[in-house]
Amino acid sequence: MSKAFGLSLATVCALAMVAPAAAADADQGKDIAKRWCAACHLVENDQTKTSDQAPPFATFAKMPEFDQNKLAFLLLAPHPNMPKLSLNRTEVANLADYIRTLK
Ligand code: HEC
Repeated sequence: MSKAFGLSLATVCALAMVAPAAAADADQGKDIAKRWCAACHLVENDQTKTSDQAPPFATFAKMPEFDQNKLAFLLLAPHPNMPKLSLNRTEVANLADYIRTLK
């Protein structure tokens, strides 16, 4: 009984720790966006031009249920002209966090 309680308490703590860490990393996501995506996408609300017809990141932010899983899924699709890049899970999560700030 007390063991089960200890476990669920640990789970709650782990979940509580995820939220602030994820929010802080939107800054890193912004760096990634500016470095790898800004040539074609509008990655900031005050960015005025790109070299491509790619949809602005703010469009993604408005998608229903946009999150890191959705972003990872979209990035799996063939991406025209995009340099081959391999973002790890953390980077995709940070990017998704940043994109959500553009709403
Ligand atoms: C060389 C230009 C280029 C670069 C660099 C680029 N993209 Fe794109 N991206 C495009 C174009 C063009 C489209 C529109 C594709 C279409 O409409 O089929 C697109 C579409 C997307 C989509 C939507 C896909 C969909 O199916 O709706 C996402 C998400 C996306 N890009 C994310 C990114 C991210 C994140 C980066 C940086 C890591 C990035 N792109 C870098 C050109 C680029």
